Amino acid sequence: MAQQIVSRSPQDSTDLVVSAPAATVEQVQTAVIRARAAAHEWSTAPAVQRATALHAAANAVAGAATELADLIVREVGKPIGESHGEVARGVAILRYFAQQALDPDGETYPSADGRALLLARRRPRGTVGLITPWNFPIAIPLWKAAPALAFGNAVVLKPAPDASAVAIRLEELVRTALPDGVLQVVIGSAKAGQALVESVDAVSFTGSAAVGRSVAVAAARRGIAAQCEMGGQNASIVLPDADIEHTASIIANAAMGYAGQKCTATSRVVIVGDPAPLTQALVAAVEHLACGDPADEATVVGPVINEAARARVLEAAAAAVASGGRVLTGARPGAGDGWFVQPTLIDGVKPDSTVAQEEVFGPLCALLTAPDVEDALQIANGVPFGLAASVFTRDLNIALDLAHRLDVGLARINAPTSGVDFHAPFGGEKDSSYGPREQGKAARDFYTSTRTITIAPAAS
Ligand code: UN1
Repeated sequence: MAQQIVSRSPQDSTDLVVSAPAATVEQVQTAVIRARAAAHEWSTAPAVQRATALHAAANAVAGAATELADLIVREVGKPIGESHGEVARGVAILRYFAQQALDPDGETYPSADGRALLLARRRPRGTVGLITPWNFPIAIPLWKAAPALAFGNAVVLKPAPDASAVAIRLEELVRTALPDGVLQVVIGSAKAGQALVESVDAVSFTGSAAVGRSVAVAAARRGIAAQCEMGGQNASIVLPDADIEHTASIIANAAMGYAGQKCTATSRVVIVGDPAPLTQALVAAVEHLACGDPADEATVVGPVINEAARARVLEAAAAAVASGGRVLTGARPGAGDGWFVQPTLIDGVKPDSTVAQEEVFGPLCALLTAPDVEDALQIANGVPFGLAASVFTRDLNIALDLAHRLDVGLARINAPTSGVDFHAPFGGEKDSSYGPREQGKAARDFYTSTRTITIAPAAS
């Protein structure tokens, strides 16, 4: 019997959101064959036609905004305010890449003889496999699919099982604007993801570091392009001159909003100098966050995605305590039947302790101290990941210096580590990313390759 993909609501595990048969290897291959058949016409159609289709897709998503936001809340427990924001972001992404379809698609160079035309033109890669996580079930599929489609590729999307229902609905909406076969969703688990990597022309992945690495290896074995966005262990460095209340409020939200389930969430705070004032302000700010039902407009911290995720957060907190840490707040299941866990702050751990090195992907943040800025920088950079970091200070010289020396893809001054600008390049260093950046104008680098064309006169 075919494996069943089951997605349940994290705030109410009796609420079965969807149960669907997992795509078999053959079904994934069939989807890729269909995509290939559709890709040729799509890639040779006038760019303005692709732009029009992506605008129509944006209209379809915008028209279903309320329904989609409610489904995000129900399926992955994202607070309703953020869910609405994500759908709006998805619409904006579609419109942005609709316009990019009309941007210059190449360059000219002086030719060797001065008479020929020497051009470098972008061409689509063909059929691209997209493997996406559950935590941004609209934005991440769209920030991959929109540029892929804009530049003339077909896509086959394999969403995380926990976000299957949102992906199915998104496909229904977007497909109405596109030719048959150009965008397909296959519901499945790791096996379907592997089958996809084994049959497409390029693969874009977002998820864990372990799986991302195996996707990159499998892609390299086949000689296809890969782009992998993986984990983070993001630090905020706070200098003594920072505004305590303002900083505490930003960090509390960046660490605990959506129960910390963002690869850009703040997981470490490195306090330079006396830690007491900021520690106190952070505990107050975190305890002040509205936790509970994600359907409630006021909620900032909903549940984590499933039982295993909650166990992982509680175990990480217990391990931190066992290694000498102290719980400042949280480290307990939250009220209610869902997978709630109280936002947790821990101090007293060393920078090389597990909680300050590994990604927990939950509402857990470690407070570390440093005697000076140089030490704080070493601590911030001293992890295997390099996605995002932020610095809170009024000192422009220090801010500029750290913005250059933090070993991350996203450096933020007086701003949260979380939050992404879809019109700017996104990605990290070290174990956080592999391959070219996503989003903004950088997206074209992954979803196209370059053909160099020489056109010489037919006779001298
Ligand atoms: C955000 O911070 O708004 O999977 C987006 C993730 C990241 C996206 C973060 N790729 O959490």
